[in-house]
Amino acid sequence: MIDFDSKARLWDGNPVFQDRADKIAAAIQAAIPLNTNMRALDYGCGTGMLSFPLKDALGHITLKDSSAGMLEVLREKITALGVSNMTARQADLTDAPLPEERYDLIFSSMVLHHIPDTADILATFHALLNPGGWLCVADLDQEDGSFHGIEVDVHHGFTRETLRQQAEAAGYGDVRFDTVFEIVKEQETGTRAYPVFLMVARKH
Ligand SMILES: C[S@@+](CC[C@H](N)C(=O)[O-])C[C@H]1O[C@@H](n2cnc3c(N)ncnc32)[C@H](O)[C@@H]1O
Repeated sequence: MIDFDSKARLWDGNPVFQDRADKIAAAIQAAIPLNTNMRALDYGCGTGMLSFPLKDALGHITLKDSSAGMLEVLREKITALGVSNMTARQADLTDAPLPEERYDLIFSSMVLHHIPDTADILATFHALLNPGGWLCVADLDQEDGSFHGIEVDVHHGFTRETLRQQAEAAGYGDVRFDTVFEIVKEQETGTRAYPVFLMVARKH
């Protein structure tokens, strides 16, 4: 289990995280006809890096995360920038009844590998979407565990075909994938690149 509270204050100081969020935001904007009537959920939002570049294209964004530390930084940014259409909420959808609100778009970056039951969270997102709503999930392609270190208990990325099958089983259509970023890490064995995909799917 990673302690995201302790990482929150340093999160925005990492230029790779900002670059990643900007590339994912651009890919979402290229894939989906966003408009200012849409209500969106950023799940596992962290400090909101992915939502800030999308906020002017959407009506409202609810940002949920289980980490109080991440949300504290996020709320400070919302206040400092005078943003009126972003609301931060502490939540863990894996451990709570389905909330009543519904969304036209759900996006999530680098969160899926932290959630043990992938099929279950895909079904929860599906239940939270309005008909015609969109799901955008960015995460790692399958890797050997070296991204976090083999001792960290997370998914070692995902194979796109397995994730496609899980999304289709949860009721999504039009499932597609693009490579949107590469995280480059220095390791004992040399430099290693970890591709990040964006899965876009639609609830019919
Ligand atoms: C790798 S960070 C990504 C943060 C942000 N999406 C970004 O791209 O900068 C993963 C985030 O997911 C959150 N998270 C992990 N498991 C969660 C869960 N079950 N429910 C809600 N948030 C969760 C963590 O607190 C953390 O902020």
